[in-house]
Amino acid sequence: MEAVDLNEIAEAVGTPAYVYNAEAIRRRHAELTAAFASVPHRIHYAVKANGNLAVLSLMRRLGTGADIVSGGELARCVRAGFAPADIVFSGVGKTGAELAEAAGLGLDSINVESVEELADLGRVAAALGRNVRVGIRFNPDVTAGTHPYISTGQSGIKFGVPCDQVADAVRVLRAHPALELRTVAIHIGSQITSVEPYRRGAGRLVELWTALREAGVSSITTLDIGGGLGIRYLDEEPPTPAQLAGAVVPSLRPTGLRLHLEPGRYLIGSAGVLVTRVLYRKLAGGKVFLVTDAGMNDLVRPSRYGAYHHIVELVRRRGPEQVADVVGPVCETGDFLALDRSLPPIQAGDHVAVLGGGAYGFVMASSYNARPRPPEVMVEGGGFRVIRRRETVEELMTGETE
Ligand code: LLP
Repeated sequence: MEAVDLNEIAEAVGTPAYVYNAEAIRRRHAELTAAFASVPHRIHYAVKANGNLAVLSLMRRLGTGADIVSGGELARCVRAGFAPADIVFSGVGKTGAELAEAAGLGLDSINVESVEELADLGRVAAALGRNVRVGIRFNPDVTAGTHPYISTGQSGIKFGVPCDQVADAVRVLRAHPALELRTVAIHIGSQITSVEPYRRGAGRLVELWTALREAGVSSITTLDIGGGLGIRYLDEEPPTPAQLAGAVVPSLRPTGLRLHLEPGRYLIGSAGVLVTRVLYRKLAGGKVFLVTDAGMNDLVRPSRYGAYHHIVELVRRRGPEQVADVVGPVCETGDFLALDRSLPPIQAGDHVAVLGGGAYGFVMASSYNARPRPPEVMVEGGGFRVIRRRETVEELMTGETE
Protein backbone atom coordinates (compact mmCIF):
# COMPACT_ATOMS: atom_id res chain seq x y z
CA MET A 1 0.00 0.00 0.00
CA GLU A 2 1.75 3.13 -1.29
CA ALA A 3 5.36 2.41 -0.23
CA VAL A 4 4.47 0.25 2.78
CA ASP A 5 4.58 -3.56 2.80
CA LEU A 6 1.34 -4.90 4.26
CA ASN A 7 3.26 -7.94 5.57
CA GLU A 8 5.26 -5.56 7.70
CA ILE A 9 2.08 -4.04 9.14
CA ALA A 10 0.69 -7.53 9.77
CA GLU A 11 3.85 -8.48 11.68
CA ALA A 12 3.72 -5.28 13.70
CA VAL A 13 0.05 -5.21 14.71
CA GLY A 14 -1.01 -8.82 14.16
CA THR A 15 -3.90 -10.11 12.09
CA PRO A 16 -6.65 -9.59 11.25
CA ALA A 17 -6.19 -5.84 10.79
CA TYR A 18 -7.87 -3.12 8.76
CA VAL A 19 -5.44 -0.87 6.88
CA TYR A 20 -6.43 2.40 5.17
CA ASN A 21 -4.55 4.52 2.65
CA ALA A 22 -4.82 8.24 3.41
CA GLU A 23 -3.48 9.22 0.01
CA ALA A 24 -6.14 7.16 -1.78
CA ILE A 25 -8.84 8.93 0.23
CA ARG A 26 -7.34 12.30 -0.74
CA ARG A 27 -7.29 11.32 -4.42
CA ARG A 28 -10.94 10.27 -4.34
CA HIS A 29 -11.94 13.44 -2.58
CA ALA A 30 -10.07 15.57 -5.08
CA GLU A 31 -11.73 13.79 -8.00
CA LEU A 32 -15.21 14.30 -6.61
CA THR A 33 -14.60 17.95 -5.78
CA ALA A 34 -13.19 18.65 -9.24
CA ALA A 35 -16.19 17.01 -10.93
CA PHE A 36 -18.67 19.32 -9.17
CA ALA A 37 -16.53 22.46 -9.32
CA SER A 38 -18.96 24.20 -11.68
CA VAL A 39 -21.79 24.34 -9.09
CA PRO A 40 -21.88 25.51 -5.49
CA HIS A 41 -21.72 22.25 -3.60
CA ARG A 42 -20.70 20.61 -0.36
CA ILE A 43 -19.61 17.05 0.30
CA HIS A 44 -20.89 15.58 3.57
CA TYR A 45 -18.95 12.39 4.22
CA ALA A 46 -21.30 9.54 5.26
CA VAL A 47 -19.79 8.63 8.62
CA LYS A 48 -21.51 5.24 8.68
CA ALA A 49 -19.06 3.97 6.05
CA ASN A 50 -16.10 4.35 8.40
CA GLY A 51 -16.32 6.38 11.59
CA ASN A 52 -12.78 6.05 12.92
CA LEU A 53 -11.70 9.35 14.49
CA ALA A 54 -8.55 9.55 12.35
CA VAL A 55 -10.65 9.03 9.21
CA LEU A 56 -13.12 11.70 10.33
CA SER A 57 -10.31 14.10 11.13
CA LEU A 58 -8.79 13.51 7.67
CA MET A 59 -12.14 14.16 6.01
CA ARG A 60 -12.59 17.34 8.03
CA ARG A 61 -9.14 18.58 7.04
CA LEU A 62 -10.01 17.86 3.41
CA GLY A 63 -12.94 20.20 3.89
CA THR A 64 -15.90 17.84 3.94
CA GLY A 65 -18.85 18.11 6.26
CA ALA A 66 -20.37 15.00 7.83
CA ASP A 67 -23.57 13.05 7.23
CA ILE A 68 -24.60 11.18 10.37
CA VAL A 69 -27.40 8.82 11.37
CA SER A 70 -27.19 8.58 15.15
CA GLY A 71 -26.28 10.40 18.34
CA GLY A 72 -23.24 8.13 18.48
CA GLU A 73 -21.99 9.34 15.11
CA LEU A 74 -22.71 12.90 16.24
CA ALA A 75 -20.45 12.39 19.27
CA ARG A 76 -17.71 10.98 17.03
CA CYS A 77 -17.92 13.99 14.71
CA VAL A 78 -17.83 16.48 17.56
CA ARG A 79 -14.77 14.65 18.95
CA ALA A 80 -13.11 14.78 15.51
CA GLY A 81 -13.58 18.54 15.42
CA PHE A 82 -16.52 19.02 13.05
CA ALA A 83 -18.49 22.19 13.72
CA PRO A 84 -22.25 21.58 14.20
CA ALA A 85 -22.92 23.72 11.14
CA ASP A 86 -20.97 21.20 9.04
CA ILE A 87 -23.12 18.23 10.06
CA VAL A 88 -26.25 16.85 8.39
CA PHE A 89 -28.37 14.39 10.41
CA SER A 90 -30.12 11.73 8.30
CA GLY A 91 -31.89 8.56 9.41
CA VAL A 92 -35.33 7.05 9.51
CA GLY A 93 -35.68 6.55 13.26
CA LYS A 94 -34.16 9.40 15.25
CA THR A 95 -35.25 9.40 18.88
CA GLY A 96 -36.64 12.45 20.68
CA ALA A 97 -33.36 12.74 22.58
CA GLU A 98 -31.36 12.68 19.34
CA LEU A 99 -33.61 15.34 17.77
CA ALA A 100 -33.31 17.55 20.86
CA GLU A 101 -29.53 17.25 20.97
CA ALA A 102 -29.18 17.96 17.24
CA ALA A 103 -31.57 20.90 17.38
CA GLY A 104 -29.80 22.31 20.42
CA LEU A 105 -26.41 22.17 18.71
CA GLY A 106 -27.66 23.89 15.55
CA LEU A 107 -26.67 21.35 12.90
CA ASP A 108 -26.56 22.36 9.25
CA SER A 109 -29.69 20.34 8.63
CA ILE A 110 -31.79 17.67 10.32
CA ASN A 111 -33.20 15.62 7.46
CA VAL A 112 -36.51 14.10 8.54
CA GLU A 113 -38.00 11.01 6.93
CA SER A 114 -41.65 11.21 7.93
CA VAL A 115 -44.31 13.85 8.49
CA GLU A 116 -44.55 12.57 12.08
CA GLU A 117 -40.85 13.22 12.64
CA LEU A 118 -41.24 16.71 11.18
CA ALA A 119 -44.01 17.45 13.68
CA ASP A 120 -41.92 16.04 16.54
CA LEU A 121 -39.00 18.24 15.51
CA GLY A 122 -41.37 21.22 15.41
CA ARG A 123 -42.31 20.56 19.03
CA VAL A 124 -38.65 20.15 19.98
CA ALA A 125 -37.79 23.48 18.31
CA ALA A 126 -40.66 25.23 20.09
CA ALA A 127 -39.56 23.82 23.44
CA LEU A 128 -35.99 25.00 22.81
CA GLY A 129 -37.25 28.40 21.68
CA ARG A 130 -35.00 28.47 18.64
CA ASN A 131 -35.26 28.13 14.90
CA VAL A 132 -34.12 24.79 13.51
CA ARG A 133 -32.89 24.14 9.96
CA VAL A 134 -34.54 21.07 8.54
CA GLY A 135 -34.43 19.02 5.42
CA ILE A 136 -37.03 16.62 4.14
CA ARG A 137 -35.75 13.41 2.64
CA PHE A 138 -38.29 12.33 0.08
CA ASN A 139 -38.68 8.89 -1.39
CA PRO A 140 -38.41 9.69 -5.11
CA ASP A 141 -39.63 6.25 -6.19
CA VAL A 142 -36.52 5.61 -8.27
CA THR A 143 -35.11 2.10 -8.51
CA ALA A 144 -31.36 2.04 -8.07
CA GLY A 145 -30.74 -1.49 -9.36
CA THR A 146 -28.45 -2.42 -6.49
CA HIS A 147 -28.65 -5.13 -3.81
CA PRO A 148 -32.21 -5.11 -2.35
CA TYR A 149 -30.92 -4.56 1.20
CA ILE A 150 -29.22 -1.29 0.19
CA SER A 151 -31.70 -0.01 -2.37
CA THR A 152 -33.48 2.88 -0.70
CA GLY A 153 -35.22 5.00 -3.33
CA GLN A 154 -38.25 3.05 -4.46
CA SER A 155 -41.68 3.40 -2.84
CA GLY A 156 -42.95 0.73 -0.47
CA ILE A 157 -39.83 0.70 1.72
CA LYS A 158 -39.21 2.47 5.01
CA PHE A 159 -37.09 5.36 3.71
CA GLY A 160 -38.13 8.93 2.97
CA VAL A 161 -41.37 10.89 2.90
CA PRO A 162 -43.54 9.67 0.01
CA CYS A 163 -43.79 12.31 -2.72
CA ASP A 164 -47.57 12.50 -2.39
CA GLN A 165 -47.22 13.84 1.17
CA VAL A 166 -45.80 17.24 0.18
CA ALA A 167 -49.04 18.96 1.23
CA ASP A 168 -49.02 17.25 4.65
CA ALA A 169 -45.41 18.33 5.18
CA VAL A 170 -46.28 21.92 4.25
CA ARG A 171 -49.15 21.88 6.75
CA VAL A 172 -46.76 20.82 9.53
CA LEU A 173 -44.22 23.47 8.51
CA ARG A 174 -46.98 26.14 8.76
CA ALA A 175 -47.99 24.88 12.19
CA HIS A 176 -44.37 25.06 13.45
CA PRO A 177 -42.87 28.41 12.46
CA ALA A 178 -39.56 27.57 14.22
CA LEU A 179 -38.87 25.02 11.46
CA GLU A 180 -36.96 26.44 8.50
CA LEU A 181 -37.11 24.06 5.55
CA ARG A 182 -33.70 24.45 3.92
CA THR A 183 -33.03 21.17 2.17
CA VAL A 184 -34.87 18.80 -0.11
CA ALA A 185 -33.04 15.48 -0.04
CA ILE A 186 -33.03 12.02 -1.55
CA HIS A 187 -30.77 9.01 -1.12
CA ILE A 188 -31.61 6.27 -3.56
CA GLY A 189 -29.28 3.48 -2.50
CA SER A 190 -25.71 2.36 -2.18
CA GLN A 191 -23.14 0.78 -4.53
CA ILE A 192 -24.98 2.31 -7.51
CA THR A 193 -23.24 1.53 -10.79
CA SER A 194 -25.31 3.53 -13.28
CA VAL A 195 -26.02 7.25 -13.63
CA GLU A 196 -29.64 6.76 -14.72
CA PRO A 197 -31.16 6.51 -11.23
CA TYR A 198 -29.30 9.69 -10.30
CA ARG A 199 -30.58 11.47 -13.42
CA ARG A 200 -34.16 10.53 -12.53
CA GLY A 201 -33.60 11.35 -8.87
CA ALA A 202 -32.26 14.82 -9.69
CA GLY A 203 -35.29 15.46 -11.89
CA ARG A 204 -37.56 14.39 -9.04
CA LEU A 205 -35.73 16.71 -6.61
CA VAL A 206 -36.40 19.66 -8.89
CA GLU A 207 -40.09 18.68 -9.17
CA LEU A 208 -40.36 18.51 -5.38
CA TRP A 209 -38.67 21.89 -4.96
CA THR A 210 -41.10 23.34 -7.49
CA ALA A 211 -44.10 21.80 -5.70
CA LEU A 212 -42.92 23.16 -2.35
CA ARG A 213 -42.39 26.64 -3.79
CA GLU A 214 -45.84 26.58 -5.34
CA ALA A 215 -47.17 25.67 -1.90
CA GLY A 216 -45.54 28.85 -0.56
CA VAL A 217 -42.29 27.47 0.92
CA SER A 218 -39.56 29.96 -0.01
CA SER A 219 -36.79 29.01 2.43
CA ILE A 220 -35.13 26.18 0.46
CA THR A 221 -31.42 26.71 -0.26
CA THR A 222 -30.13 23.20 -0.91
CA LEU A 223 -30.81 20.09 -2.94
CA ASP A 224 -29.20 16.93 -1.54
CA ILE A 225 -28.73 13.95 -3.88
CA GLY A 226 -27.46 11.66 -1.10
CA GLY A 227 -24.64 9.15 -1.45
CA GLY A 228 -24.45 5.80 -3.16
CA LEU A 229 -21.81 6.15 -5.86
CA GLY A 230 -20.46 2.65 -6.41
CA ILE A 231 -16.91 1.35 -6.55
CA ARG A 232 -15.31 -1.59 -8.33
CA TYR A 233 -15.18 -4.76 -6.24
CA LEU A 234 -15.06 -7.22 -9.18
CA ASP A 235 -15.75 -5.96 -12.69
CA GLU A 236 -18.36 -3.26 -12.09
CA GLU A 237 -17.97 -0.10 -14.13
CA PRO A 238 -19.37 2.53 -11.77
CA PRO A 239 -19.82 6.05 -13.10
CA THR A 240 -16.93 8.43 -12.59
CA PRO A 241 -17.64 11.56 -10.54
CA ALA A 242 -17.58 13.51 -13.82
CA GLN A 243 -20.26 11.21 -15.27
CA LEU A 244 -22.32 11.57 -12.11
CA ALA A 245 -22.03 15.36 -12.32
CA GLY A 246 -22.95 15.19 -16.00
CA ALA A 247 -26.16 13.35 -15.09
CA VAL A 248 -27.39 15.62 -12.29
CA VAL A 249 -25.94 19.09 -12.78
CA PRO A 250 -27.93 20.01 -15.93
CA SER A 251 -31.25 19.69 -14.08
CA LEU A 252 -30.03 21.07 -10.74
CA ARG A 253 -28.04 24.09 -11.94
CA PRO A 254 -31.02 26.15 -13.23
CA THR A 255 -32.50 26.16 -9.71
CA GLY A 256 -29.53 28.21 -8.51
CA LEU A 257 -29.55 26.16 -5.30
CA ARG A 258 -26.62 24.59 -3.50
CA LEU A 259 -25.94 20.92 -4.08
CA HIS A 260 -25.18 18.50 -1.26
CA LEU A 261 -23.61 15.07 -1.73
CA GLU A 262 -23.31 12.35 0.94
CA PRO A 263 -20.73 9.87 -0.31
CA GLY A 264 -19.33 7.21 1.99
CA ARG A 265 -18.17 4.16 0.07
CA TYR A 266 -16.80 6.16 -2.88
CA LEU A 267 -14.41 8.12 -0.66
CA ILE A 268 -13.01 5.27 1.40
CA GLY A 269 -14.17 1.83 0.18
CA SER A 270 -11.27 1.14 -2.17
CA ALA A 271 -8.80 2.87 0.14
CA GLY A 272 -8.91 0.09 2.73
CA VAL A 273 -8.05 -3.60 3.03
CA LEU A 274 -8.51 -6.27 5.63
CA VAL A 275 -5.24 -8.13 6.14
CA THR A 276 -5.64 -11.67 7.41
CA ARG A 277 -3.45 -14.74 7.83
CA VAL A 278 -4.24 -18.17 6.46
CA LEU A 279 -4.27 -20.49 9.47
CA TYR A 280 -4.90 -23.75 7.68
CA ARG A 281 -5.27 -25.17 4.20
CA LYS A 282 -7.80 -27.93 4.48
CA LEU A 283 -9.16 -30.46 1.98
CA ALA A 284 -12.73 -31.64 2.52
CA GLY A 285 -15.36 -33.13 0.23
CA GLY A 286 -13.16 -32.61 -2.79
CA LYS A 287 -12.78 -28.91 -2.00
CA VAL A 288 -9.98 -26.69 -0.79
CA PHE A 289 -10.65 -24.49 2.22
CA LEU A 290 -8.34 -21.69 3.23
CA VAL A 291 -9.18 -20.98 6.87
CA THR A 292 -8.24 -17.40 7.77
CA ASP A 293 -8.03 -15.64 11.11
CA ALA A 294 -10.63 -13.09 9.89
CA GLY A 295 -14.26 -14.13 9.89
CA MET A 296 -17.73 -12.81 9.23
CA ASN A 297 -17.56 -10.93 12.51
CA ASP A 298 -14.65 -8.89 11.10
CA LEU A 299 -16.03 -8.39 7.56
CA VAL A 300 -19.70 -9.27 7.23
CA ARG A 301 -20.34 -8.11 3.65
CA PRO A 302 -19.67 -11.45 1.87
CA SER A 303 -21.98 -13.41 4.15
CA ARG A 304 -24.59 -10.66 4.55
CA TYR A 305 -24.95 -9.46 0.95
CA GLY A 306 -23.16 -12.18 -0.99
CA ALA A 307 -20.70 -9.38 -1.72
CA TYR A 308 -17.57 -10.05 -3.76
CA HIS A 309 -14.28 -8.84 -2.28
CA HIS A 310 -11.11 -9.43 -4.22
CA ILE A 311 -8.44 -11.39 -2.33
CA VAL A 312 -4.78 -10.77 -3.04
CA GLU A 313 -1.89 -12.87 -1.82
CA LEU A 314 0.83 -10.99 0.05
CA VAL A 315 3.36 -13.78 -0.44
CA ARG A 316 4.15 -14.65 -4.06
CA ARG A 317 4.32 -18.37 -4.78
CA ARG A 318 4.83 -20.21 -8.03
CA GLY A 319 2.51 -23.00 -9.10
CA PRO A 320 -0.95 -23.68 -10.47
CA GLU A 321 -3.98 -21.78 -9.22
CA GLN A 322 -6.32 -23.45 -6.76
CA VAL A 323 -10.08 -23.00 -6.43
CA ALA A 324 -10.86 -22.50 -2.77
CA ASP A 325 -13.44 -21.30 -0.28
CA VAL A 326 -11.86 -18.70 1.98
CA VAL A 327 -13.56 -19.15 5.33
CA GLY A 328 -13.23 -17.74 8.82
CA PRO A 329 -13.06 -19.30 12.29
CA VAL A 330 -16.66 -18.44 13.24
CA CYS A 331 -18.97 -21.35 13.95
CA GLU A 332 -21.35 -20.87 11.04
CA THR A 333 -21.29 -22.32 7.54
CA GLY A 334 -22.19 -18.81 6.35
CA ASP A 335 -18.85 -17.55 7.66
CA PHE A 336 -16.89 -16.96 4.48
CA LEU A 337 -14.89 -14.24 2.76
CA ALA A 338 -14.99 -15.88 -0.68
CA LEU A 339 -16.53 -18.97 -2.28
CA ASP A 340 -15.12 -21.00 -5.18
CA ARG A 341 -12.39 -18.46 -5.75
CA SER A 342 -9.47 -19.06 -8.10
CA LEU A 343 -6.38 -18.14 -6.14
CA PRO A 344 -2.64 -18.64 -6.39
CA PRO A 345 -1.13 -21.54 -4.38
CA ILE A 346 -1.52 -19.76 -1.07
CA GLN A 347 -0.32 -21.79 1.90
CA ALA A 348 -0.93 -21.81 5.64
CA GLY A 349 0.93 -18.95 7.26
CA ASP A 350 0.62 -16.61 4.28
CA HIS A 351 -0.99 -13.20 4.62
CA VAL A 352 -3.70 -12.14 2.22
CA ALA A 353 -5.41 -8.79 1.72
CA VAL A 354 -9.17 -8.59 1.28
CA LEU A 355 -9.73 -5.54 -0.93
CA GLY A 356 -12.54 -3.00 -0.74
CA GLY A 357 -12.45 -3.08 3.05
CA GLY A 358 -12.41 0.65 3.73
CA ALA A 359 -16.19 1.12 3.82
CA TYR A 360 -18.72 -0.93 5.81
CA GLY A 361 -15.88 -3.10 7.06
CA PHE A 362 -14.77 -2.28 10.60
CA VAL A 363 -17.98 -0.35 11.34
CA MET A 364 -20.03 -3.49 10.79
CA ALA A 365 -17.65 -5.74 12.70
CA SER A 366 -18.95 -7.45 15.80
CA SER A 367 -17.46 -9.47 18.61
CA TYR A 368 -19.53 -12.59 17.78
CA ASN A 369 -17.89 -15.73 19.17
CA ALA A 370 -16.21 -13.40 21.71
CA ARG A 371 -13.74 -12.32 19.08
CA PRO A 372 -12.22 -8.92 19.81
CA ARG A 373 -12.54 -6.48 16.91
CA PRO A 374 -9.41 -5.93 14.79
CA PRO A 375 -7.14 -2.91 14.95
CA GLU A 376 -7.24 -0.14 12.35
CA VAL A 377 -4.10 1.27 10.79
CA MET A 378 -3.52 4.34 8.62
CA VAL A 379 -0.81 4.37 5.97
CA GLU A 380 0.37 7.93 5.40
CA GLY A 381 3.54 9.80 4.50
CA GLY A 382 5.61 6.68 3.82
CA GLY A 383 4.79 5.08 7.18
CA PHE A 384 1.87 3.76 9.16
CA ARG A 385 0.22 4.29 12.52
CA VAL A 386 -2.36 2.45 14.56
CA ILE A 387 -5.52 4.54 14.67
CA ARG A 388 -7.42 2.06 16.80
CA ARG A 389 -5.74 -0.70 18.73
CA ARG A 390 -7.06 -4.23 18.80
CA GLU A 391 -9.93 -4.71 21.20
CA THR A 392 -9.16 -6.93 24.19
CA VAL A 393 -11.13 -9.84 25.58
CA GLU A 394 -11.30 -7.93 28.87
CA GLU A 395 -13.05 -5.03 27.09
CA LEU A 396 -15.61 -7.47 25.70
CA MET A 397 -16.73 -8.25 29.25
CA THR A 398 -16.81 -4.62 30.42
CA GLY A 399 -20.14 -3.71 31.95
CA GLU A 400 -21.25 -7.27 32.55
CA THR A 401 -21.96 -8.73 35.95
CA GLU A 402 -21.78 -12.36 37.00
N1 LLP B 1 -26.68 9.03 2.88
C1 LLP B 1 -27.63 8.24 3.45
C2 LLP B 1 -28.87 8.84 3.92
C3 LLP B 1 -27.40 6.85 3.56
O1 LLP B 1 -28.33 6.07 4.09
C4 LLP B 1 -26.18 6.29 3.07
C5 LLP B 1 -25.91 4.85 3.17
C6 LLP B 1 -25.22 7.17 2.52
C7 LLP B 1 -25.52 8.52 2.43
C8 LLP B 1 -23.88 6.69 2.01
O2 LLP B 1 -24.00 5.78 1.00
P1 LLP B 1 -22.67 5.32 0.20
O3 LLP B 1 -22.14 6.55 -0.53
O4 LLP B 1 -21.70 4.84 1.19
O5 LLP B 1 -23.15 4.28 -0.70
N2 LLP B 1 -23.76 -1.73 4.71
C9 LLP B 1 -24.03 -1.66 3.29
C10 LLP B 1 -24.23 -0.24 2.83
C11 LLP B 1 -25.34 0.49 3.55
C12 LLP B 1 -25.54 1.91 3.08
C13 LLP B 1 -26.56 2.61 3.89
N3 LLP B 1 -26.76 4.01 3.60
C14 LLP B 1 -22.90 -2.35 2.53
O6 LLP B 1 -21.98 -2.87 3.16
O7 LLP B 1 -22.94 -2.41 1.30
